[in-house]
Amino acid sequence: MQALPGFRDLLPEDCARRNYIFGRWREVARRYGFVEWEGPPLEATELYKKKSGAEIVEQLFNFTDKGEREVALRPELTPTLARVVAAHEREFKKPLKWFSIGQFFRYEKQQRGRLREHFQLNCDIIGEKDLAADIELVALCVDILRAFGFTEKDFVVRISDREFWTDFFRDKEVPVERWDDLLQAIDKSAREPREKTAEKLGDLADQVFAILKSGGKSAKLEQLVDGLRPRGLADFAAIDVGIVRGLAYYTGIVFEVFDRAGKFRAIAGGGRYDNLISQLSDGAVSMSALGFAMGDVVLGELINEIPQARETMRKVIASDSKIDIYIVIAKEERRGDALAQIQRLRDRGYRIDYPLTPTKVARQFQTAEDLGAHIALLFGDEWPHVKIKNMGTGEQELVANDGLLAHLQAQSSLSS
Ligand code: HAM
Repeated sequence: MQALPGFRDLLPEDCARRNYIFGRWREVARRYGFVEWEGPPLEATELYKKKSGAEIVEQLFNFTDKGEREVALRPELTPTLARVVAAHEREFKKPLKWFSIGQFFRYEKQQRGRLREHFQLNCDIIGEKDLAADIELVALCVDILRAFGFTEKDFVVRISDREFWTDFFRDKEVPVERWDDLLQAIDKSAREPREKTAEKLGDLADQVFAILKSGGKSAKLEQLVDGLRPRGLADFAAIDVGIVRGLAYYTGIVFEVFDRAGKFRAIAGGGRYDNLISQLSDGAVSMSALGFAMGDVVLGELINEIPQARETMRKVIASDSKIDIYIVIAKEERRGDALAQIQRLRDRGYRIDYPLTPTKVARQFQTAEDLGAHIALLFGDEWPHVKIKNMGTGEQELVANDGLLAHLQAQSSLSS
């Protein structure tokens, strides 16, 4: 029996890497004053049909439940957020700055950087129209990646504005009904043969290609990048009107993060969706909103690719997975005394391990080393004293078992 295609078995090392990623995500989101929330993993299929766009609806893991409800495993968080905010907005001061870490499911063709389940960090700001919020959100996205050890040489935030294109369509008197299809065609243009995109763009093809080539001018986008400048983050961003994003609900600024080498799929993506809350609440609540999501899959690949990021992760995981103390039971008649001490020390927060069954002393010390224990405590002939061995230096000392806790607490290298 194997895991389903696109689903991962996370062995302890994979979990350690995942927890490292979650830890950094959470830490930087909190630095920006975001608070954590969570939604359910299963939602009514209708929620995604309403406004996520055709592509994501095709990728739904959906079924009819035992109560004859049409339900789907969540492919993304944004529609849930819009639903929840519409129901609870009165309870909170605006703007809301919410983040969430969770697992998402999309029936995608499995390929590098794309699986059928992945974890995302979502960060969203609700109830702020000003561009200051867009700037803050991009800054947060950059700082999260900086926290993994990446620099402006490793990644770039490509920033665009859907209004740039909708203004252009209006100017060219393109009927509104065509806008969504045209935006989708522009979104796919970098990944599809030129003829295919040209066919979808019809009479606008030459002009759109010309804009994509020259870059396009937008005062709003320049203002956004200028807003990053005093923070020293402008070098992480580039204006690129070729970014449109696949999801249907975006209304303004949109952005995607890529590795500079262009080797991987997008690391993160997001933008403004000022109409979604109103649309999902049938006009009952209307609030501007913006956010982004960063996935763990491409991020993990990029961490492995960039030496300083890989080394930072290795060090954090190594120190995090170590135990504090290994208890060596040299004489079986001391097992009860050792367990009493183990219980006391664990209650104080020390990470402790010991042999469950009688084991040769040399093997116990080997296990202590393998587990990265800072010290080993030997319960044997010295009783009622215990021998402390510093696993780093090899130094040994005898301490009375009664005074052990106080002795350890005086040593700052161990946590308690
Ligand atoms: P998205 O671009 O669909 O945006 O996904 C965000 C990120 O999730 C992607 O850049 C990628 O890193 C990761 N991701 C998406 N699908 C997969 C997959 N099949 N396998 C691995 N990683 C994946 C959204 O989901 C929006 N709801 C983001 C947002 C939040 N917009 C506003 N607020």
